[in-house]
Amino acid sequence: MRPKIIVTRNIPVEVESKLKEYFQVSFNREDKVFSKDTLRKAMENADGIVCTVTDNITNDLLSTTNKKVKIIANIGVGVDHIDLQSARENNVIITNTPDVLTEATVDVATLLLLSVTRNAFLVEKMLRQGEWKGFSLTENLGVDVRGKILGIVGMGRIGKAFAKRAHEVFGMKILYYNRSPVKDLTFEASVRFDLDALLEESDVISLHLSSDERNKNIISKSRMKKIKASSFLINTSRGDVIDQTALIDLLEKKKISGAGLDVFLNEPNVPLSLRQLSNVTLYPHIGSATYETRTKMGMLAVENLMAFFNEKEVINQL
Ligand code: DGY
Repeated sequence: MRPKIIVTRNIPVEVESKLKEYFQVSFNREDKVFSKDTLRKAMENADGIVCTVTDNITNDLLSTTNKKVKIIANIGVGVDHIDLQSARENNVIITNTPDVLTEATVDVATLLLLSVTRNAFLVEKMLRQGEWKGFSLTENLGVDVRGKILGIVGMGRIGKAFAKRAHEVFGMKILYYNRSPVKDLTFEASVRFDLDALLEESDVISLHLSSDERNKNIISKSRMKKIKASSFLINTSRGDVIDQTALIDLLEKKKISGAGLDVFLNEPNVPLSLRQLSNVTLYPHIGSATYETRTKMGMLAVENLMAFFNEKEVINQL
């Protein structure tokens, strides 16, 4: 009999078709986030689950007594919503979808970079409201990114790819925070072993941190004070790596020039105080949201399932 797979959210049609070729599949046509009870039933009834960032796969789910599930294939690279240690202890394999979403996420970091430095939200809002008084040599000015310092926090796949693009396409100077210098970089970049030093020196700070316990609130309230008032902050990783309340406070007091955020604490609840600010660009977690990329992510999740059920090497096993 074909293994039974439960898919927690809607997925691209090509991915659905591929899954149906090999598995007995149950879909969530309403696309509403599963409750804990529904997830528990999935654990009891499926051989494998396809999930994503909106599903909290906690220890109590993974240690469900009548658990049948053997593999959870996450569509997405970040897995902070899955208790990996509990998965190991309960013999559940977890896979993710790295690489295929790198360039799409870098595209969104680039959008945020240009949007915040050129006041894109503010000037468009002004025009749409019919308040544009005509061309001016001194109004609506942003700042150049060329020649400015981009500080990368989290020099993984996406951090590196954004640094490369910012350097090669936009002529930015690259600093990055790491415990040791990253080997084999194909572009010029300087390492800072001290995060505070990177925050002090950078004109734009971009967060690309893995979803790791150690990284929660790493950009804390006290640390944020190191950022120059003329600098900008971009976050395309996870909302909880930064003290969001402290960031809002800095933005309100203009102690930082602007922020471009694609991720938030407790998504989808973005505080009104943040939504009301004009020096921010806010996107609804769209880093990997292109048809092509989401299809590649889904296909990779299916490949991981197929490898597991065919007793082959599971490439993206965590
Ligand atoms: C990722 O891949 O981690 C995206 O943020 C969606 O989960």
